[in-house]
Amino acid sequence: MIQPIAVHTPGPARRLQAVLSPVIPELAALVRDTPGTLSLAQGMVDWDPPESVAVAVAAALAAGGPELHRYGALQGDPQLLETIAAKLAAHNRLELEGSALLVTAGSNMAFHAVVQAIAEGPPGEPSEVILPLPYYFNHVMAVQLAGAVPVLVEGGVIPDPERLAAAITPRTRAIVTVSPNNPSGVVIPAPVLAAINRLCALHGLFHISDEAYELFVHGREPHWSAGSLPGSAAHTVSLHSLSKAYGMAGWRLGYMAVPAALLPALHKLQDTVLICPPRLTQHAARAALAAGPAWCAPRLAGLAGRRQQLLDAVATEQAQGLPVRVLAEPDGAFYALLQLDGAAAGSLSGDTLMRRLVREHRVAALSGESFGLEAGCGGPVLRLSYGMLGAADLAKALDRLFRGVGALLA
Ligand SMILES: Cc1ncc(COP(=O)(O)O)c(C=O)c1O
Repeated sequence: MIQPIAVHTPGPARRLQAVLSPVIPELAALVRDTPGTLSLAQGMVDWDPPESVAVAVAAALAAGGPELHRYGALQGDPQLLETIAAKLAAHNRLELEGSALLVTAGSNMAFHAVVQAIAEGPPGEPSEVILPLPYYFNHVMAVQLAGAVPVLVEGGVIPDPERLAAAITPRTRAIVTVSPNNPSGVVIPAPVLAAINRLCALHGLFHISDEAYELFVHGREPHWSAGSLPGSAAHTVSLHSLSKAYGMAGWRLGYMAVPAALLPALHKLQDTVLICPPRLTQHAARAALAAGPAWCAPRLAGLAGRRQQLLDAVATEQAQGLPVRVLAEPDGAFYALLQLDGAAAGSLSGDTLMRRLVREHRVAALSGESFGLEAGCGGPVLRLSYGMLGAADLAKALDRLFRGVGALLA
């Protein structure tokens, strides 16, 4: 007879409980349960990749062979690495002497790998990574996954180098910047980025510069890569993505320039996780990068029109007495932070607002809390994305948003 045994069900590691929960899947489920919802939440654009991408992929498939079907080079196929090096030198003015390039499955993966490569977890003192507020949530999650501590620094939407300096401890390993910024849409001025980069050099820290939105600049402030600062190669990590500008979020294509000293550690990470970047998508990446900023320009111009539409709609609502305002000049990416003011706003959290707007008004936006902005002295904050909606749907979504906000504040 079989003896009954005591069953101990295995579960996930406890340390994962300390990692932020991803907000996008939660909101996506809410939207799925509320048919007809218009989304100002999605961090994507609505255009498809250049046609040359499909042509290049079809040609690569037709050619087939070991170049496509077998494992390839760990850092990326040499032709793509050459294309990336030329782009980084010409467009970002990076001096690649002393840097190494690595292709990843999206720039989130690149960030994760870098933090894994530089953070010392317990049993020693955990490393710290400084993130100016508001942060991009996946950065915090990656830092936590590496067993390191995210140190969140307030100081306005544009990071303040002095406040960042004050947050440095002997355990700090890196400072992260995101420009153009998710969630604020702010383009961080070059002198501020340069000051942060020099601060990193002075304290022996890495500057991790997330430039996923590098082509998305709609105002006077140009995009500037910290890695172009002379002498910065030994401590600067530049992260880039094809997800946004080329409408290739689903293709999972990113790349980074890293100090050469990090390469042996990154080799271990890349070899364990990816072995080599998917080879078919590397053909797609070459075609997209060859199409380049000239291909993106008319699409970005269309987006600039929608940005203006959003700003005009906020101004109209303000003029009619709705206590809303845009936090900071959203001159980049396709985001803006909307702050609710007034006495009634004080009792609402951004998270509550986010959920009620979907359920009661069929419009989705992300809460400020998702980016570390707690509704405190000011009222709650929402991140609005104008990347995915055409002009007519954007108008409808903004109308629902402002009617919803008005009702919730009443
Ligand atoms: C600042 C920032 N970095 C990286 C990513 C992710 O890029 P990828 O799709 O290349 O992983 C996003 C996506 O929203 C982002 O906002």
